[in-house]
Amino acid sequence: MIELEKVKAQIHTFVQECNDKKCLELLDKLSTGKMLRSKLVLKIAGVSEESIKLCAVIEMIHAASLLHDDVIDESDTRRGKPSVNALYDNKTAIMFGDVLYSKAFTELAKMPTQVATTVSSAVTLLSIGEMLDVDLTEEFNTSYEKYLDMIYKKTASLIEASAKAAALLVNKDAQKFALYGKNLGLAFQMIDDILDITQDSQTLGKPALLDFVEGKVTIPYLLLHERVEDKEKLEQLYKKELTIEQSSWIKEQMKATKALDDSIKQAKTLGLEAIKAVENEKDDSLVQIMKAMIEREF
Ligand code: FPP
Ligand code: MG
Repeated sequence: MIELEKVKAQIHTFVQECNDKKCLELLDKLSTGKMLRSKLVLKIAGVSEESIKLCAVIEMIHAASLLHDDVIDESDTRRGKPSVNALYDNKTAIMFGDVLYSKAFTELAKMPTQVATTVSSAVTLLSIGEMLDVDLTEEFNTSYEKYLDMIYKKTASLIEASAKAAALLVNKDAQKFALYGKNLGLAFQMIDDILDITQDSQTLGKPALLDFVEGKVTIPYLLLHERVEDKEKLEQLYKKELTIEQSSWIKEQMKATKALDDSIKQAKTLGLEAIKAVENEKDDSLVQIMKAMIEREF
């Protein structure tokens, strides 16, 4: 997708404007990932100087949040490559995150007010979402509502804001696109949570079943806890380094109780909700984005 190259070039220009060699060096260490948020913006708003800038701003905010998240999660890999905190140190990751984040906000301030407030308020939610995520790892969470609220804030809020801001840029129905983005974002995070269980560590670029080891009770574990006979055993494995036998037991129980299947169903239902929101737009590419995201290898 040639447009995504334009977004990458715009990010490079923005960082260049910060006039600091180290920042350019650090930018080079980041891998861009799927650029889902940019794809969404460009589908909704089309390709223009403004939409490319909006994409760059959103990607920089997203990258900043991941730089900070890897420090918070003490993670030494990101998208299969060493994270900046691992390559350098925590201080560098935090400070570079701050540079990307503040430069993004400088650029956001030049955009139409509604676009700017849409994106900036999502960043507040994103930050609160990260706090909730950390708090929820204190003890085995059994509340689906708390999980849903957390993934909405941590992940779906910026995807919702991307879709809404793109719509605002070209005078499309902002509420409709916001709803599309919100449900897409919720489904996206659920699928990520499912892949942590179903995919091997090589594909994931991080150890498998890591969420549970790190104290994250995601949707498959919530359903498993509700349904599994030996709840005590599951609770005892929470936040522990798992042996091969223990990992296999969790995976078997996930299958036997249909916790995994029903989590996939739930994610797909949200995906369909997303499509329903923009049904009368008659834009097949919005359906394609959703499908590409949902139909990842489970
Ligand atoms: C990844 O979650 C983390 C996020 C999507 C949001 C992180 C947000 C912040 C650190 C606050 C905002 C900060 C700034 C500077 C804007 P994860 O740990 O579940 O996913 P992972 O497996 O990809 O790490
Ligand atoms: Mg993380």
